[in-house]
Order: sequence, then structure tokens, then C-alpha cells
Amino acid sequence: MPAVPPIAAERLPELLRRMPKAELHIHIEGSLEPELIFEMSRRNGIAIPYAGVEELRRAYAFTNLQSFLDIYYAGASVLINERDFHDMAWAYLLKAKAENVVRAELFFDPQTHTARGVAMETVINGLHSACTRAGAELGVSASLILCFLRHLSEGEAFETLEQALPFQDKFIGVGLDSSEVGHPPEKFAKVFARCRELGLHLVAHAGEEGPPSYVWTALDLLKVERIDHGVQSSKDPQLMRRLAQDRIPLTVCPLSNLKLCVFPALEQHNLRELLDAGLVATVNSDDPAYFGGYLNENFTRTFAATGLSAQHAWQLAANSFEASFAEPEQKRRWRDQLDAAFAQFA
Ligand code: HPA
Ligand code: ZN
Repeated sequence: MPAVPPIAAERLPELLRRMPKAELHIHIEGSLEPELIFEMSRRNGIAIPYAGVEELRRAYAFTNLQSFLDIYYAGASVLINERDFHDMAWAYLLKAKAENVVRAELFFDPQTHTARGVAMETVINGLHSACTRAGAELGVSASLILCFLRHLSEGEAFETLEQALPFQDKFIGVGLDSSEVGHPPEKFAKVFARCRELGLHLVAHAGEEGPPSYVWTALDLLKVERIDHGVQSSKDPQLMRRLAQDRIPLTVCPLSNLKLCVFPALEQHNLRELLDAGLVATVNSDDPAYFGGYLNENFTRTFAATGLSAQHAWQLAANSFEASFAEPEQKRRWRDQLDAAFAQFA
């Protein structure tokens, strides 16, 4: 790890905003801002039970994961046409560009849409065309990861995989999201084994609200390459050693954890503990339209609350590139850009 030159505390927020970084845990449906929800509601003739943007935003007072998911799935109900999926992803990718995100791996929840009669092709083509456009017009590298909803059955996950396979060239991996407690990773062991045979990357949400045992089974039974959230791992010292030794990245989402009451205050977040234990922790926004901030807001607020340093900033950005599913040569170029950004700042 290169020694990071001393940087004055008051310049840290600017450094955090300026440094190149990858975002690896963003549910694209969670980037749908209330303004866009109402625009799509109008243009698609889908009623939503809120009078306007302000009333909808006021409803974003969550007590746990499920209280958020209920509103998140309602918000996604306005997405109907390929253009809607494109516009949603494009709005996020423009934000990503403005925040010096050079790589984004976007989760999407096809079952939320296919259950309403939207074709898999519509979902994937709309999102994928925005990713391709981001590469060409913004210089932002973007890829898709298809998530299975864990509150549904493994049979339904298999059906979803079947529907998606004609478009396998348009997504790079699969993940597991939605209600965690009561739906352990092992419920999806067979479908993940199939995805592994197909050469897809594998990730899963584990240890957001669920116990460390869910992180163990995600690793040992699903054989995932990254853990999404994983913050509950700090309750299990043996698991912490495993994650550090095998360099299993955690895609941590501090403002999400705050909004969903996983930690009572940002000051009590365990990101520093994860980094100090040598874990490949990264910072991400999860569902930025619902949780009060995009990626740079996650960085600046968490650093202000927990007193992390410029050295931590460098480590988190370097971790984000290491943890990404981009090509090694591309990762090296981003690491060089990161070091150049820090050298410029010294
Ligand atoms: N956890 C689980 N499922 C989700 C999340 C999350 O943070 N965001 C969107 N779906
Ligand atoms: Zn998530």
C-alpha cells in the first residue's frame, strides 16, 4: 500500500469527491427518484397512492429492511417500457459520472417486473442500452448483475434464470436480495450452482440484518465472490479472519445501514473496524433515492462521522477496483488514476 501524503482534514471531502472509484452495490430500481416516479406514473397511466413528490419523500421513514422494501417495490411499479428502464439507469449513470465513479455494477430485480407482466427482454434491453451508452458517451464502465428475490422460491429463481439466459451476454453475474431474515442463502444453493456452471459471477446480500451464519453459507454453499453488506460479520472473529484471508470483498452501504436502523448512528458504524481487520471493504449507496445520498454523500458523511483518514480513502477506492469484475488491465489503469489523483492533492 503506498503511503498517502498527509492531507488536511478540511480538504478530505473534496478528495473523496474527486478520487476515481467503483460502485459495486447499487440497486438500479433504488435510484428511481420521486420526480421520475411521478413522471413515469403519468406517462404510463399507473396510479401511485401518494399525492406528490413531497408526500412520497415523507414516507421514506424506515424502521427496518422490510419497511423499505414495501415502498421500493411500489415505486418500481411505474416501470413499464424499455425507455423507462433506460431513463432510470441513464439518470443514475449521469450522477455516477459527476461523482467520478468510473465503474458501476448495477443490480436489477427482474422478478419485480416480470411478475407485473413486463417482459424480461424489455427490462434487460432498457438497462443494457443505458450501460452501453455510458461507456460511449461518459467514459463510465457499467455492467449488470441480475438479482433473485430471496422471499420467492428457488423454483421461481430458476424460471427467472431461464427467461434471462437468451440475454446472457448483457449481464455479468447474479446476486440475491430482498427480505433476508428467514431466507438464508442455502435456499438458493442449486440455482447458484447452475449459474456458476454458466460462468456467471456470483454475489449475495448476507449479514445486513441476518446473522454471520448467513455469510458463512453464502461463501461455502453458494460460493459467492463478494458479500453485499456483510456488516454483521464483525460479530464473528473466525468469519472476520476468513474474509480477510480469502480477500472476500464486502460492499458496505453506510447510509442504507443508517436509514434501515442497522446501526443507531453513523458514528457507530463498523466500517473502520472492517478496514482495520484487513477486509476488502468498499463504500456504496445501495438505494440512493431512498437513503438520502449517492456515493459521494456516503463517503463524506461516513468519514465525517467516524473520523476516517486520507489513507482510508485511498484504501476504499483501491478496494473498489480490486473487488470489481472488470478486466485486470482496466483495473490497473484505474489504480494508476487513483494514485495520480492523490499525488495531485498532496
Ligand atoms: N437489502 C436487500 N434487498 C434490497 C436492498 C437491500 O439493502 N435494496 C434493494 N433490495
Ligand atoms: Zn442492497
